[in-house]
Amino acid sequence: MRVNNIPQAFPYQGSKRKLASVILACIPKNTRRLVEPFAGSAAISVAAAWNERVDSFWLNDAHSPLMALWNAILNAPLALADDYEKIWTAQQGREKEYYNAVRDRFNRDSQPADFLFLLARCVKAAIRYNRSGEFNNSPDHRRLGMKPETMRKNILMVHEVLRDQTMLTTGDFRAVLRKTRKTDFVYMDPPYQGVCKNRDNRYAKSVVFEEFVKELNALNERQIPFIVSYDGRTGNTIYGEKLPESLDLFHSEIFVGRSTQATLLGRSHDTYESLYLSPLAVRRLGDIPRVLRENESTVQLLFD
Ligand SMILES: C[S@@+](CC[C@H](N)C(=O)[O-])C[C@H]1O[C@@H](n2cnc3c(N)ncnc32)[C@H](O)[C@@H]1O
Repeated sequence: MRVNNIPQAFPYQGSKRKLASVILACIPKNTRRLVEPFAGSAAISVAAAWNERVDSFWLNDAHSPLMALWNAILNAPLALADDYEKIWTAQQGREKEYYNAVRDRFNRDSQPADFLFLLARCVKAAIRYNRSGEFNNSPDHRRLGMKPETMRKNILMVHEVLRDQTMLTTGDFRAVLRKTRKTDFVYMDPPYQGVCKNRDNRYAKSVVFEEFVKELNALNERQIPFIVSYDGRTGNTIYGEKLPESLDLFHSEIFVGRSTQATLLGRSHDTYESLYLSPLAVRRLGDIPRVLRENESTVQLLFD
């Protein structure tokens, strides 16, 4: 598996880029179509395409500016890279006012290159909207955002591996799941449950635990294989609710690293993220993948 130098579509908080090697090992080789109803920056689909593990992809997200950005990556990558370069270069020497001006323009016109610039420049590449639905995250003053030549390289590589075999949709995850077929394999990474309360925003209703469980149950009944990244824990503190036993999922914890916050407070707590495999996913794989059975030090090596 090629785990190094996997391109990144764009900076995105919550990206599963660092866990791609482990999660990819849970997607059967020669999968016909990988479906990501909560795509974000689609780190797992990009990694699967980079490794030629999957024939085609369906990327969906409820956030429409994000899917407009995906549309530009797949259908007009050169124009997107050129626009990003122009916007990025023009910030120099007046970074703060310039960021605010681009943010105002994005809140008015919602153009993909502006959104890309905001993601590259804002604190933690996180999307935050205020009550009136305006993007309001502040710039990270320590850096100028990904350099245009690096952004161009990433955009073109992601375009190259996904362009002819990817379907894009914008909307709620439930509409996607209901249209999946038996030959699909679904990877779900819903908004993180634990750290902040899920609030409805202009683009998406929060994902309600009971409704999510109901959809997973329906996938089991319809015999659609799936894996889910869900809760996590640092030391003994668990974030989010565990998925119920009734779904008959295989639960594993992936070692992510040491919590920087805990280290600062003088505690050393390791952070884990949960990964759940549906019974049919395990059967399709032939067994539980080796990476989920190893002890944590071996899994850690995979990230080096
Ligand atoms: C944790 S992120 C996914 C990150 C992704 N795995 C990656 O590698 O970048 C969750 C995504 O779910 C989207 N989302 C939130 N509510 C949704 C809903 N009801 N239906 C579909 N997508 C939703 C958010 O916009 C966000 O992009």
